[in-house]
Amino acid sequence: MLAFIGGTGLTRMDNLRIVATHPLDTRFGKPSAPVVEGELHGRRVLFLARHGDPHVLLPHQVNYRANLAALKEAGASAIVAVNAVGGITPDAPTGALVLPDQMIDYTWGRDSTFFDSPDEPLVHVDFSWPFDGALRTALKNQLATSELAWNDGGCYGATQGPRLETAAEIARLERDGCDIVGMTGMPEAVLARELALPYAMLSLVVNPAAGKSTHEITMAEIEAVIHSGMAGVCTLLADFARD
Ligand code: HPA
Repeated sequence: MLAFIGGTGLTRMDNLRIVATHPLDTRFGKPSAPVVEGELHGRRVLFLARHGDPHVLLPHQVNYRANLAALKEAGASAIVAVNAVGGITPDAPTGALVLPDQMIDYTWGRDSTFFDSPDEPLVHVDFSWPFDGALRTALKNQLATSELAWNDGGCYGATQGPRLETAAEIARLERDGCDIVGMTGMPEAVLARELALPYAMLSLVVNPAAGKSTHEITMAEIEAVIHSGMAGVCTLLADFARD
């Protein structure tokens, strides 16, 4: 079953016809919210609100291990994760969707592996290409049929938050090769890889990253872009589930 993880601005999918909610409790604790099972255009899908429903968990407070373990337990076979990001390079203008193909992790202090029990054999997963190729291609094909502004590829820089970055930090991320910046891509992506769940990310650029515009970044500005952008994402995901 295809699963969606909704980030900021996507706590609920309005077009999802809910058929069951799974209030799961994993060996890592409870996920951010019950896993919702529903139908999109007649296709059975799963949905999880990354920050809880209502949105209460900050990026560093999310129990990513419980979220991924719960999705797997509920029957997920692939995950499309949606997140709001800041745009760094011209390839990531505000309002556009980016389908990243690379990632750099700047987060710290998060539980970022399932393999930390002494009873389990240590596994170093290959993470050269953090996003699943086939899932990315399928999303790309879907985006190509839409009217949305989008960009294929790009490097996602995962920062700790919850504050936004300094202009110097963004300049550093840009030198490192990052095109977009967000706070939740890691450890979510690597945990999916450890569970062998194909995972891809759809990032909505909601503001120019720090130092990339002449004005202060405000929540009002971000919320306005999220409001219009996530409606397009919901339609796209419904079409994706059907096709
Ligand atoms: N930085 C980090 N995370 C974000 C941003 C940003 O500018 N915008 C939305 N999520």
